[in-house]
Amino acid sequence: MSAITAAKRPEIKTELPGPKGREIVEADARWVTPSYPRPEYKLVAERASGVWVEDVDGNTFLDCNAGVAVCSTGHCHPEVVKAIQEQAARLIHMCGTDYYYRHMPDLARKLEEIVPIDGPTKTHFANSGTEAVETALKLAMHATGRQKFIAFFNSFHGRTLGSLSLTSSRVAQRRGFKRSVLDVTHVPYPNTFRHPFTGERSDGETVSRAVLDWMEQRLFVTTTPPEEVAAIVVEAVQGEGGYVPAPREFLHGLRRICDREGILLVVDEVQSGFGRTGRMFACEHYDLKPDVVTLAKGIASGIPMGACVARADLMDWKPGAHASTFGGNPVAIAAALKTIELLEGGLVANSAEVGAYLEEGLRRLSARHDCIGDVRGLGMMLGVEFVAGGGSREPAPELRDRVEVECYRRGLILLGAGYNTIRWSPPLVLSRENADVALEIFDESIAAARR
Ligand SMILES: Cc1ncc(COP(=O)(O)O)c(C=O)c1O
Repeated sequence: MSAITAAKRPEIKTELPGPKGREIVEADARWVTPSYPRPEYKLVAERASGVWVEDVDGNTFLDCNAGVAVCSTGHCHPEVVKAIQEQAARLIHMCGTDYYYRHMPDLARKLEEIVPIDGPTKTHFANSGTEAVETALKLAMHATGRQKFIAFFNSFHGRTLGSLSLTSSRVAQRRGFKRSVLDVTHVPYPNTFRHPFTGERSDGETVSRAVLDWMEQRLFVTTTPPEEVAAIVVEAVQGEGGYVPAPREFLHGLRRICDREGILLVVDEVQSGFGRTGRMFACEHYDLKPDVVTLAKGIASGIPMGACVARADLMDWKPGAHASTFGGNPVAIAAALKTIELLEGGLVANSAEVGAYLEEGLRRLSARHDCIGDVRGLGMMLGVEFVAGGGSREPAPELRDRVEVECYRRGLILLGAGYNTIRWSPPLVLSRENADVALEIFDESIAAARR
């Protein structure tokens, strides 16, 4: 392990993937489902520490994806590892749906303190983002007695059948599954780089007004009576849709509609939560107060965990209405409590500070490469959108894919999001020195991808 903790730069010693990596990729193709949406490059991880990942052939990579925005405290943070080991030696599982242990109220109390919902909250524990969203959907139906939902194009909320009814970031996620199980209406998301109705650049206020008017003057008077809508489900920063932050006016407009119509506002912070945006939650950038918040990914530094935090008065459902055998497992909660302690102890601040530094560097690169159409985001949740260049805003998905592969060849791990964007979601321990190395490789990779 010492070799990778001391790393300063990636080190690629074999062809990629190397011989051991190729064997594992072949075995995977034989025995593992082909439904995973893996990128063109093939990273076969063996061990990791902080921002560094070593593959099975001994190559070292600088990771600016963090296992898709999950390893918030860095890979295998020693304090998280210790918390997991100590908890595993004491109590691994008891089934919180039937028995009690201190971990559940401990984490639920902490979430009430940090999640930006007004007033008292209660938490339902699950094992993943999609389950947290399922909980929010069931809760919204149960609490309002309504059945319809509003979600946004390009959103991602998970792949189980309820959350899949909301998800609309790629048709591949839906193809073959016939009908949606829930009654969901999709509305354009107010992307300022590509106004959903004109395709042009816009400002937050104009694009927000257009979408909100469309909801109120088209949707609510034609197909979707607002009094039948249980919840509006929104990402404050669209994740899989391409790392697109919502304008402030839009989120506050949704809040006003919800208040007026008795609709619940569910904010999905699965990808944007836990320090990713330079605040503990993306909602805090907007002073937005949701009724329900869904959480997963970065919550426990890589141990599977999801949570749905809601206004306490909404959670008046009765025993049996919703539960999970593994959800709120003591080991996962120990990892979550330690993760939150580390985030509060400096990593959220580092995400804001080094994230701003990284964003500045990406903006400098966009001045040198005309194929970068947009650099956007908050903290360490940054998107770089690729276009044809030479004055054209035409999306360039193949160029984006080539950049991703060129980065991998040079030892930098980045992953696409949306149609033509590369997401930067590094571990929140990333330093300025790491950011400089990553920017240098990104610069070279863009040049190589265009040759
Ligand atoms: C915003 C959002 N919600 C929900 C999910 C689903 O999470 P999981 O893959 O843990 O089910 C994701 C995953 O990318 C996400 O980004």
